[in-house]
Amino acid sequence: MNETGTMTLETAATDVLQEAQQDLASGIEHAFSSSFPEHDCRLETIGQPLPDFVRGTYYLNGPARFGAGEFSWRHWLDGDGMVSALRFEKEMIRVRSRYVRSRKFQEEQNAGRPLFRTFGTAFPGSQLNRAHNGLESPVNVSVYPFEGRLLAFGEQGLPWELDPETLETRGQFTFGGRLNDASPFSAHPKFDAETGEMFNFGIFFSAQTPRLYFYCLQNGEMRYRKSVPLEYPCSVHDFSISSNYAIFYLSPYLLDINGLLKEGKTVMESLRWEPERGSRLLVLDRKTGEPIISLPVGNRHCLHLINSFEQGERLIVDVVEYDEPLYGYYQPIPDLFSNVSQGGPVRLVIDLQSREIIERIALDYLKAPDFPATDPRRAMHSYDELWMLGISTTGRPGRKFFDQLVHARWDQHSVGDIYQCPPMRYLGGEPVFIGEPGSGNGVVICQEFDAAARKSSFLVFEAARVAPGPVTRIPLDDLLYLGFHAGFRFG
Ligand SMILES: [Fe+2]
Repeated sequence: MNETGTMTLETAATDVLQEAQQDLASGIEHAFSSSFPEHDCRLETIGQPLPDFVRGTYYLNGPARFGAGEFSWRHWLDGDGMVSALRFEKEMIRVRSRYVRSRKFQEEQNAGRPLFRTFGTAFPGSQLNRAHNGLESPVNVSVYPFEGRLLAFGEQGLPWELDPETLETRGQFTFGGRLNDASPFSAHPKFDAETGEMFNFGIFFSAQTPRLYFYCLQNGEMRYRKSVPLEYPCSVHDFSISSNYAIFYLSPYLLDINGLLKEGKTVMESLRWEPERGSRLLVLDRKTGEPIISLPVGNRHCLHLINSFEQGERLIVDVVEYDEPLYGYYQPIPDLFSNVSQGGPVRLVIDLQSREIIERIALDYLKAPDFPATDPRRAMHSYDELWMLGISTTGRPGRKFFDQLVHARWDQHSVGDIYQCPPMRYLGGEPVFIGEPGSGNGVVICQEFDAAARKSSFLVFEAARVAPGPVTRIPLDDLLYLGFHAGFRFG
């Protein structure tokens, strides 16, 4: 301000510049290295001993190779997937981490240079997949145990099978030849442990006849494969199931497939956000895959759903909504989330008779949370608690990253249990709830990335009370890539 109290133009311009240049994620560039080492070693714990019920394997997948030679990828979804297994035994914790030796990984390794176009990076001559209908998958989003196997998934592509113990890559998994490279297949299959069913979907991004393929597999067979017409060819990442329904939140984030297939563009360059078209909630009958309800649901974007369940004639669908899509804020590496929009968990209550949304309950946490997780035993059932990662500096310009573990309850609209990381420490990996048998208690595990010390740890929190910080820390000697999705297999 000058003596008259008026801000000079020069000062204002400097302030704007400084505002634009805020670094709210100091050191986060170390999370996007050309490569991360593979691990196979024992780990020790610091703090409280782990409860006896934590016996089994925590699996995590995420992008872990962001460059080759002089070349660097631009987008968080571009990196080649690495899967980690944290094995909890009575006397020992062991970590293994290995790259998925996907076709993309192997062919680029052999060539000594990038060959394939990725979600956010193209270069002259960059190739698509063998079916020429999309990207060659970097297999970097999620990992799920399935019928004694371990399957690693990327965005829209067939999974790759890994040895559940050694994490050696066994090969692309085609479900006994029932699916192939031309089959769109998401990274978020859903499993019903009682029926043994596995559901998944994929989008056929035709401009003229966009469709959603919906798959139901059971006992090694394809029980059905449905083709559901879509209003527009939209990007869909996740869905949800309840006892009788499959629920999709379709946001108007349109993919121009010709840009990708014919014009050499990336997926990112081919996506357009057209909120004026409105979003829709699509409900399919789980028994048949037939669509039964399609409802307007505002004009926001949903990346992940949290859980769905039925109560009499009501269907409750819990989602995380944002003002606009997140993918544009996964770039340019390493400056992520610079102007990320607000967002937060929302509960939608649908009357199945009148086919209307009769209630909309928003939690008061809007700091662009993602990777929502619940007690897996409450999947498809009424539940109250969820955990997710949040970005404390949402709303301020400048790169930023997840630095809060948020524990929320639907019965308390305000969120009162939040763990805040110290400066230069960040969180990664979907928080995983591990429940004590016979009780609602449990622990939550997620990753910590210490950019100052250049070391990663796994953090274990009391699920009911995360704000005081982790009760147990499991440190590594070096940095582990920041993961996307994770899960736990008992035994
Ligand atoms: Fe996801």
